[in-house]
Amino acid sequence: MHDIAVIAGDGIGPEVVREGLKVLRAAADIHGFRFRTESMPYGAEHFLKTGETFPDSALRAAHDFHGILLGAIGDPRVETGKLERAIISGLRFGLDLYVNLRPVRLYDARFCPLKDRGPADLDFIVVRENTEDAYAGLGGILKKGTPNEVAVQEMIYTRSGCERVIRYAYDLCRKREKHKRLTLVDKANAVRAQDIWTRTFAEVGLEYDGIQQDHAYVDAACMWMVKNPDWFDVIVTTNLFGDIITDLGAQLVGGMGIAASGNIHPGKVSMFEPIHGSAPKYAGKNVANPLATVVAVSMMLDHLGEHDAAHAVEEAVRRLLTSGKVKSLSAGHIATDALGDMVVAELRAGAATKVPSGKPAMKQDGRPGAKSNGRPAAKAAKPAKAGRGKAAAR
Ligand code: IPM
Ligand code: MN
Repeated sequence: MHDIAVIAGDGIGPEVVREGLKVLRAAADIHGFRFRTESMPYGAEHFLKTGETFPDSALRAAHDFHGILLGAIGDPRVETGKLERAIISGLRFGLDLYVNLRPVRLYDARFCPLKDRGPADLDFIVVRENTEDAYAGLGGILKKGTPNEVAVQEMIYTRSGCERVIRYAYDLCRKREKHKRLTLVDKANAVRAQDIWTRTFAEVGLEYDGIQQDHAYVDAACMWMVKNPDWFDVIVTTNLFGDIITDLGAQLVGGMGIAASGNIHPGKVSMFEPIHGSAPKYAGKNVANPLATVVAVSMMLDHLGEHDAAHAVEEAVRRLLTSGKVKSLSAGHIATDALGDMVVAELRAGAATKVPSGKPAMKQDGRPGAKSNGRPAAKAAKPAKAGRGKAAAR
């Protein structure tokens, strides 16, 4: 029995979560596992009614679940960032969810804004550190509103914090059947404190024979993500840079309607959410795209050990998106509930035809050099300018 806490949250959160749970119920039915959910009321409405953002008791209660599904947090009626910090960061820090896993995976070439690129070109995964950096909250504002105002926010990196997330990324890279290449993304040329990432990456890498150590400064990484996305296999990066590059990554595979993430502490309760926000202008209209939440549910299933179900849900999304039935991933093209129903129908159809499962979805299109767009496989070229070569050789 899997115990799942549900924080539907604000804006479109409740609508996309409703569809995510619909798919989860169908997956349970097909794959024969059981789960129960408990809904937590936190978000703007709860705050405006009670003055409470995310109490300690909620964090304590969260420890008793196996997974948490979160919709979206944020509301224009509440001070910027107040609820996001309390609830999203509250969970990330409070449950020590040190990995923020963000796949950048294209399901169908039609949704890619890059010319002549297909699913084989866009299949990498960003491992974003999730408990340190500028998000740690060390800082503040002094003499606010005066000409002498001072604003400071520290970027904090600990050796143990870097090491555990880097190790997670190496392990993930070893499991994936792609380039066996781990790219460290940082800005250590300007932010010298990030030298701790450079050294930790090289030192931990000594334990991982057969994984190529790669590096890109964050500015160059943005350029490469557009120019040669097929270069990337696994990226490991800091909290803030991970936040930024994964919005770019989301756009490369169809936008915020499809991008999902897992906030993970291996072996412990973890939180899964779409990357998109609460999108207040779409709230309550049944127009939001629930697919990001559905993919988040797939990631949650994987974390819960339901690997076949996780795979089947992601494959249902892939089949739906390659079928041509979904013309656009933007809000408003297909009603939220109708899109949820379409995923369930694909899931049931897939189960009826006994699609082989148990293999990570990436294996089908993650072969190095394989192209889905009919062009000959071009080698991912990466001119010397942006890279420093092996981190260990620096
Ligand atoms: C994300 C979001 C959050 C972040 C915000 C809402 C605090 O942008 O999950 O990417 O910056 O981490
Ligand atoms: Mn973000």
